[in-house]
Amino acid sequence: MIKLTINGRSLSTTPGTTVLEAALAHGIDVPRLCYHPELSVSGGCRLCMVEIEGIANPVASCGLLCAEGMDIRTESEALSEMRHDIIDLFVSDHPLDCVTCDKAGSCQLQDYAYQYGITETSHDKEISRTLYQDDNPFFLRDHQYCILCGRCTRVCNEVVGAEAIDLVGRGFTSHVATPFDGPMINSDCIFCGNCVQVCPTAALLPMSRLGKGREWEMERTKSICGYCGVGCEIEYAKKNDKIIYAQASKAQSVNGEMLCSKGRFGWDFVSHPERLTTPLIRKDVAYEMGLTDEPWELSDRSPLKARKVVIEDSFVPVDWETAVTLTAAKLAQTVKKHGPDSVMGLASARCTNEDNYIYQKFMRAGIGTNNLDHCARL
Ligand code: SF4
Ligand code: SF4
Ligand code: SF4
Ligand code: FES
Repeated sequence: MIKLTINGRSLSTTPGTTVLEAALAHGIDVPRLCYHPELSVSGGCRLCMVEIEGIANPVASCGLLCAEGMDIRTESEALSEMRHDIIDLFVSDHPLDCVTCDKAGSCQLQDYAYQYGITETSHDKEISRTLYQDDNPFFLRDHQYCILCGRCTRVCNEVVGAEAIDLVGRGFTSHVATPFDGPMINSDCIFCGNCVQVCPTAALLPMSRLGKGREWEMERTKSICGYCGVGCEIEYAKKNDKIIYAQASKAQSVNGEMLCSKGRFGWDFVSHPERLTTPLIRKDVAYEMGLTDEPWELSDRSPLKARKVVIEDSFVPVDWETAVTLTAAKLAQTVKKHGPDSVMGLASARCTNEDNYIYQKFMRAGIGTNNLDHCARL
């Protein structure tokens, strides 16, 4: 272990830890914008500067490894002035639209502007990035809000591996670009939205979120994504009981802050008006069981080929007990008549491990078939 002092507090940490990580791990907050715990160090924003005893100039703590006996200060008048000037520069190239901005309330630039008392820039204002791209249904790119922290490019290149975007140009022409600055939809982007998650400002926003309410009005519900067996932890931002957007729940061990496109953007089924919410029995079977007095015959035309299936035309809603009893009877009948391999089971990742264990046991030992699969393989 390495022993060091931060703001007069004696601490110990493991070799290989940066000063920023050591400070954060011990509850000492250090302003930062380009740093992200799951990405490589960029060192671009300079906001995380700290003073080290014996070193003349402040050093960026996100790229500085802890060393035995270091004496570090994360706060001083000089550091505050420096951070104030950095935010002032960011704001000189950023519209101060916080009153109407969808990111207000969860924007790190806004937080630091508040912290350092910056209401407007002391420099000449010049908005150098004007890209506005809404060419896909998943997220908006509005680069007037971009602060060039490079978190999006690092997540895309280092974590996702899609390499769809990178920082190009110099000075006022620097921007996040797709190859040849083409539309996102024509790039190698897989629309996972991890860049949207790590973006500290409104430069990248989920489409579903635009104009749907302020951050502080939204209720957060944590859940587990049901699409596959990884079981990523996910957080839904909801307003009036409707999901507005989904994001990874921060710093979780399974998926960190990352999600795939299904978990992040594939949740609209939840409030879809055609979502099945009760068991349904085909009308001819329901008629035989006396559950409806409307006789009905299965059409020659496959329901899959019908342009729009109207559920009420062909099915009758029933309670779970009726549905399970009927399913058990039909299963037994089929196995008896055609043998165990005439049926197969498909289990759901939304069930627990124990449920899935029981399911495979039921199929193998109860029914007597190995015809079983699981949606996690889809
Ligand atoms: S991105 Fe942040 S700082 Fe910029 S206008 Fe929106 S809330 Fe304000
Ligand atoms: S959505 Fe995913 S693949 Fe596309 S640019 Fe962002 S991180 Fe890269
Ligand atoms: S788009 Fe967002 S994450 Fe990417 S560089 Fe700009 S501010 Fe940073
Ligand atoms: S957080 Fe260290 S330089 Fe940006």
